[in-house]
Amino acid sequence: MTHFDVSGKIMFELTGKTAIITGASRGIGKAIAMKFASQGANIAFLHYMDADNAAATEKELNELGIKAKGYECNVADFAAANAAVEQILEDFGEAHILVNNAGIVRDMLMLKMQESDFDAVISVNLKGAFNMTKSVYQHFMKKRRGRIINISSIVGLTGNAGQTNYASAKAGMIGLTKSVAKELGARNVTVNAIAPGFIKTDMTDGMPEKAKEATLAAIPMKRMGQVEDIANTALFLASDEAAYISGEVIRVDGGLAM
Ligand code: NAI
Repeated sequence: MTHFDVSGKIMFELTGKTAIITGASRGIGKAIAMKFASQGANIAFLHYMDADNAAATEKELNELGIKAKGYECNVADFAAANAAVEQILEDFGEAHILVNNAGIVRDMLMLKMQESDFDAVISVNLKGAFNMTKSVYQHFMKKRRGRIINISSIVGLTGNAGQTNYASAKAGMIGLTKSVAKELGARNVTVNAIAPGFIKTDMTDGMPEKAKEATLAAIPMKRMGQVEDIANTALFLASDEAAYISGEVIRVDGGLAM
């Protein structure tokens, strides 16, 4: 849908811009990709071990009449992340927006959590965001513009029993967001985080029924969020209209973490 401001300018338009979105074969990342594409952006998206969904996403994006391509890449691997960004810059010419969305969970009480469970979640969620940000850093710096949007979580703000690995990674992403915002602010690059609450995706479908019920009961708005709720916020942060917002963390959680 097209939005106009009082002067008749189209708002939230991304025509001519290229967005790199990690973990966009399904869920929140896919919704962000579809939303950005619907506003005219070209989409380069990363996926890992999810080839069928990635192919379907690539097809759906291309049907919107923009240029879209999926790249298989483990964001936890610095060399692979760097190579993917280089390939994207070659294929698309330039990039304007990076969304660090790829994430995994390995929930259990710390009593049972193994070192490998901690490392895996930190590697994908936190180090993955570092790897991708570092890979676009100079490009954005030289172009003197850019948008970086990190998909954190409310548990990065509140902590959560059973998620020491995930909450640490998501809190770390907030530190990363604010630090890079300070480093790149003078270059006209904004860096922000979104902290989603309880959003309906494959990730939350896998939660035990009792945990789902308890979380739902604690949400003031008494419903789960939809992937579009996150995509709309990401679109705003990616748009020209959000040019003076940087280092911010926006909760999109129906009031859960207030
Ligand atoms: P999902 O499990 O449906 O999708 C995850 C995506 O990440 C997939 O496209 C997958 O291919 C990709 N991915 C996983 N490991 C990867 C790796 N090593 N390298 C590259 N890509 C990889 O998850 P969902 O629910 O869509 O979550 C997206 C983001 O939102 C995650 O960072 C998650 O932590 C965050 N989030 C989700 C919430 C929810 O309620 N669903 C709440 C708060 C945050």
